[in-house]
Amino acid sequence: MTIKFGLIGGGVMGEALLSRLIVRGIYQASEVIVSEPQPSRQSFLKQQYEVAVTADNYLVFTQAQEAVMLAVKPQAFSAIAQELADIITTEHSPLVISILAGVSLSQLEAAFPQLPVIRAMPNTPATVGAGMTALCSGAYTNAKHQQTAQQIFSAVGEFVEVSENLMDAVTGLSGSGPAYVALMVEAMADGGVAAGLPRAVANQLALQTVLGTATLLHESKMHPAELKDRVTSPGGTTIAAIAQLERAGFRSALIEAVKAAAQRSQELGKG
Ligand SMILES: NC(=O)c1ccc[n+]([C@@H]2O[C@H](COP(=O)([O-])OP(=O)(O)OC[C@H]3O[C@@H](n4cnc5c(N)ncnc54)[C@H](OP(=O)(O)O)[C@@H]3O)[C@@H](O)[C@H]2O)c1
Repeated sequence: MTIKFGLIGGGVMGEALLSRLIVRGIYQASEVIVSEPQPSRQSFLKQQYEVAVTADNYLVFTQAQEAVMLAVKPQAFSAIAQELADIITTEHSPLVISILAGVSLSQLEAAFPQLPVIRAMPNTPATVGAGMTALCSGAYTNAKHQQTAQQIFSAVGEFVEVSENLMDAVTGLSGSGPAYVALMVEAMADGGVAAGLPRAVANQLALQTVLGTATLLHESKMHPAELKDRVTSPGGTTIAAIAQLERAGFRSALIEAVKAAAQRSQELGKG
């Protein structure tokens, strides 16, 4: 069978994508090849997903007919680009999809001259199929390439298309966002403990409240302000809490957090 999809780097995010691409039937296991340097990881991936596994990035790049995904740490990018440099031809031109944080389209296009490249920024919830990925396309991509990338990332959650100049803002919001939410869950549970709840109960209440509220907003498409208005009864408990959150600068703290992360992403990109 033809190898359609190549994965360079079978780590956390690579495996998350791989597992869902196969479960969803987007690619058959026999249509996938993965390169991974670590022998123990190689045998795990081979056994778990029944895909072809190699240590040879060269092989992955030359065999994959449709798309090659780069899922290594950003620090490994220049070594891989050098490794592949002499085999890049326009006769074999798979779509190159990079999830490497901070590696720009122009860096990708310099490494893969005249090849279609798509830069993607997924986030950690992709590992459980609830990710948010932003995609931006290089100069040599067409609608078919974009469709391929969209199909791949819809296997691990939702996707949006943005222009590359918005990638730092994406990083500040959905990229780093899971940490802000984790902090909020932890702090809410601490509040519950402070109000007398046992720790395990407080953790469960905090987590399910965040999950349930996100699901409600997502499914009902209700504006967050409307949900807030619905649960604040006159002179009640929720408005007392909201007054306290506003005094403590809760909203402004989150706005500034997203801005700070976006700015840091921009600085690191120049770096
Ligand atoms: N995890 C996330 O939530 C997330 C979110 C957004 C973007 N990303 C991006 O996703 C990329 C991967 O992150 P990750 O969390 O999946 O990292 P990871 O778990 O460390 O995965 C990287 C994998 O690539 C392998 N590798 C290293 N050098 C290689 C080489 N020269 N050729 C082939 N494979 C090589 C590593 O093997 P060894 O362990 O043996 O080195 C490892 O298995 C990063 O660029 C990151 O910026 C991740």
